[in-house]
Amino acid sequence: MSCGWAKAWKRTYPPAELKYEEIVRLDRAHVWHPFTPSSPWMDPEFHPVSIQAGEGAWLMATDGKRYLDGNSSIWTNLHGHRHPKLDAALFDQLGRIAHSSFLGLTHEPAVRLANELISYANHPVFSPKLTRVFFSDDGSTAVETGLKMILQGYAQNGEPQRKDFISPEGAYHGDTMGAMSLGKSDTFHHHYQPLLFPTRRVMAPACYRCPFNKSKPQLADARHYRKCDFECAALAVEEIERAGDRLAAWVLEPKVQGAAGMIMHPEGYANTTASAARKVGAKVLFDEVLTGCHRTGTPLAAHGENVMPDVLALAKGLTAGYLPLAATLATEEIFGLFQGDPEKAFFHGHSYTANPLGCSVALANLHLLTQPETHKRMMLLFQNLRKLSQRFWQHPHVGDVRQEGGILAVEIVANRSTRARFPAKERRGARICRFAQELGLITRPIGDVLVLMPPFCTSNDELEQMTESLFQAIRKELP
Ligand SMILES: Cc1ncc(COP(=O)(O)O)c(C=O)c1O
Repeated sequence: MSCGWAKAWKRTYPPAELKYEEIVRLDRAHVWHPFTPSSPWMDPEFHPVSIQAGEGAWLMATDGKRYLDGNSSIWTNLHGHRHPKLDAALFDQLGRIAHSSFLGLTHEPAVRLANELISYANHPVFSPKLTRVFFSDDGSTAVETGLKMILQGYAQNGEPQRKDFISPEGAYHGDTMGAMSLGKSDTFHHHYQPLLFPTRRVMAPACYRCPFNKSKPQLADARHYRKCDFECAALAVEEIERAGDRLAAWVLEPKVQGAAGMIMHPEGYANTTASAARKVGAKVLFDEVLTGCHRTGTPLAAHGENVMPDVLALAKGLTAGYLPLAATLATEEIFGLFQGDPEKAFFHGHSYTANPLGCSVALANLHLLTQPETHKRMMLLFQNLRKLSQRFWQHPHVGDVRQEGGILAVEIVANRSTRARFPAKERRGARICRFAQELGLITRPIGDVLVLMPPFCTSNDELEQMTESLFQAIRKELP
């Protein structure tokens, strides 16, 4: 077992204070898990994995079993667990202070991080430039902050009619009210509908299932053999133009719509639609909670599309999967809309805004991300992932295999030639991931889309083990 920065699982860890059975008993008695149906969790026949420790691409359970962390701990981890540089940054800051208020006070880790983030997120060529950083705690709050900035900015500067937001079908921006209003998940959000504000939707640019794609299914990423006239972008542009001077912002997860099923966009979509929004005087908000921090190979997915947003939401990888910290970056123009009268202030914030521990780890993370060795390792990982992913085509129920940088999606279908789905209630994706877990791989599906998103430190041996476990799990479910 090896990983990029550490040759083996070197450390020993103190045993858990509680026995596995006691952890599970207390969990079932008092804990409420996110996105988790209750009855299967409570079923005594179900034995949840209790994570005790982690190292590199590995997770170790309380019972001593080891698992590969196939989705980077829900898309957050970048360099592996217990990275010496990240650990050191955290311990160093802990030796000073864990937290103090950011309301009316400032501190070095936040100031340094804001400066570094500005250099990291901006592109040397493309505009506009992001110059201001607002800190919060997670992806949802980063998006919520961006929405409120844009709405208030217009409202107090002579364009109060700009209240409309447009985003693609299936978009997911988090679970706070504003983020849910922009998101389009009936399964997740239908109960909250009375509280959500109306937003405009356009079709998601999902080539594999696109009604405009005239091409028959092939054994390749559907984006590369599509036969269409880029209708998805044209329809988005039409809707943006229709909204005109009522449009506040076009909101997009550029390149990859994560929770919608790792929908990977055709090249040029983010650029074309962002230009259309700017033409009608509206803002562009990019949610790079998943795609930011080099997950798709460039600092932002936006850089790969030669475009920059006016407002950018970052979270997940910002602390490389260590601590909950998020950032909403904005242009000087947007910041300017809050100047002058004290009543124009942005009345928004959180108790843990700019938590110094999170900021210190994020700084160390940005340092790692800008090292040439990290870049080399990342590129090698993406290449190896591409090679190994070809194996999935051997299975007749694999309909699409798509990849952007370190994100791999394998879509399982009932019928490859018609692209027909399995009935949702059969929960094929979940069953496959359960089998994968038995084979030592932890990942989480999105419906019937299986996801591999290994930490950048994953060695080729480990990557082979991940893809092989997932392949064998598919075979077990669909022999
Ligand atoms: C693109 C995107 N935006 C926002 C969020 C919400 O982030 P969080 O779960 O940290 O609130 C997610 C979570 O998966 C996401 O993928």
